[in-house]
Amino acid sequence: MRKSISRRDFLILTAKGVGAAVISSGLMGCNSSDGDRDVSVRFNHGVASGDPTQTAIILWTRVTPEETASINVAWEIATDAAFTNIVNSGNTLTNQQRDYTVKVDAINLTPGTQYFYRFTANGTTTSTGKTKTLPEGAIASAKLAVMSCANYPAGHFNVYNLASQMNDLDAVLHLGDYIYEYPRGGYASDNAAQLNREVLPVGELFTLDDYRTRYAQYRTDADLQSLHAGVPFITVWDDHEVTNDTYKDGAENHNEGEGDFETRKLAALQAYFEWLPIRPIAQDNELEIYRSFQIGDLVDLHMLDTRVLARDKQLDYANYISPTTGAFDGATFTQDISDTNRTMLGSEQLQWLQTQLGNSTGTWQLLGQQVLMGSMYLPAAVALSLMTLEQYTELGALAVLAGRMQANDPTLTDGEKAYFAANQDKLTDEVMAQLQLPAVPYNLDAWDGYAAERETILQTAKAYGKNLVVLAGDTHNAWASDLKDLNGDNVGVEFATSSVSSPGLEYYLNIPAASAPTYEAGIVGLIENLQYCNLRDRGFMTITFTANEAKAQWHYVDTILSDVFQEITSRSASVSVNAGDNQLTLS
Ligand SMILES: [Fe+2]
Repeated sequence: MRKSISRRDFLILTAKGVGAAVISSGLMGCNSSDGDRDVSVRFNHGVASGDPTQTAIILWTRVTPEETASINVAWEIATDAAFTNIVNSGNTLTNQQRDYTVKVDAINLTPGTQYFYRFTANGTTTSTGKTKTLPEGAIASAKLAVMSCANYPAGHFNVYNLASQMNDLDAVLHLGDYIYEYPRGGYASDNAAQLNREVLPVGELFTLDDYRTRYAQYRTDADLQSLHAGVPFITVWDDHEVTNDTYKDGAENHNEGEGDFETRKLAALQAYFEWLPIRPIAQDNELEIYRSFQIGDLVDLHMLDTRVLARDKQLDYANYISPTTGAFDGATFTQDISDTNRTMLGSEQLQWLQTQLGNSTGTWQLLGQQVLMGSMYLPAAVALSLMTLEQYTELGALAVLAGRMQANDPTLTDGEKAYFAANQDKLTDEVMAQLQLPAVPYNLDAWDGYAAERETILQTAKAYGKNLVVLAGDTHNAWASDLKDLNGDNVGVEFATSSVSSPGLEYYLNIPAASAPTYEAGIVGLIENLQYCNLRDRGFMTITFTANEAKAQWHYVDTILSDVFQEITSRSASVSVNAGDNQLTLS
């Protein structure tokens, strides 16, 4: 029999503020007669926790009822896995209006304490989740895992599996691209059928139902479930939670034929709030996700939205290259990229961040955000794909040799002379002109495309004398950079994580696996301020903070094409920064 939702339940569920009251207090009681008691339920999507504070944690699960119904879900949180010491509990209703997701804010907890939690509905109980409140006051160390960019059809989530084996994490920071919006057969899906990881729904995501279905599929993944069940997440979205290269009122992967962008965006964000254990910063606010966390006296973590809330549209090199001559209009480009009005954060969020940086007292000021802040300028010939990195290296060396030949350099060897004679034809006028183009940003979707606002942030951290550590995802490769202001002063560092499964630069540059170290050394040599990169492996990073040091450690897996995998310890790397230095130390 198909049961309908009673009018009373409907009123409870839809009364403005009630849903948020459940989220904000977790103590909104419903007696057990609410909900449809004879509908059997399963919990197919595991449990999760998130946004820990010193005294509260968001607890999450999702009910799968056998028929449409209103389901009363009881939750418990205890200090022991046997639930003999339950410190808080309650009931809440869920139904199809929130996609049967359940989110409560368990309050009145003790700082720096491990907890266990579970949910029960109509006689069925979830597995037990483990979580932790943030510590208060003086602490010796804190350890966070940082990850981003998990594309389900690209391969197994072995990176989540590897992270779930760590038992000393205070939290996982997920910097976005938790899902991807593409249709079956789309981006990075070459092995999806073989791996039995073809996406649901079949099409690209546009509607609320589409986004919900995709989240539901991702959350059936055992590795992702296991990581969520063991450690609290602190998340922000990047572009693919909506669609590729999203900015405030559009996206690269959205056209007029696909309907109203704002409608699509709001549907995507609603599904995000339903499926992620994130606490809204205010009741019913599912648009602003920038927020801060205090981890003892060591770390003030500021999570940012550089993507959806306020970002101006990305610049596009195509608009600066003459269609007739192919010439690059560097002057106009430089003027546009330095425009002080260009924003990623929007004035409100920027002001909020500046205030936070001024008022926070933690040893480390940590920015959890999406795109690379470190300057990544490449020779224009490479950045504009006029030549490959290999060609640039070869032709650049040949041009240097030409200069020495012209100057009659007495140190020229016979071999060099012979090599030049055999290859000088390659240095055509066109090639010479390309080699002389200035260095330009590799990625206009990153902070390089919003340089003035980046400078404002760096100047703020510098003025307050803070130890600034910036985290980034988005690129699918690992990076570590010094952050310098326009005066050339060191004002912070950036650690960026590789992806969980999305392909990186090596895929686009066609870098053979064995050649990765050579390319990595080449790129580090080519990009000022870049101290480390990995252009091959999928992985995540941990950051360990003490009073003296913040240390990033990258962990990589040997494959995502099988669920049998190993960590490649030979590729592990760590880079640190000492308090007061604002400059990386390679170890
Ligand atoms: Fe990504």
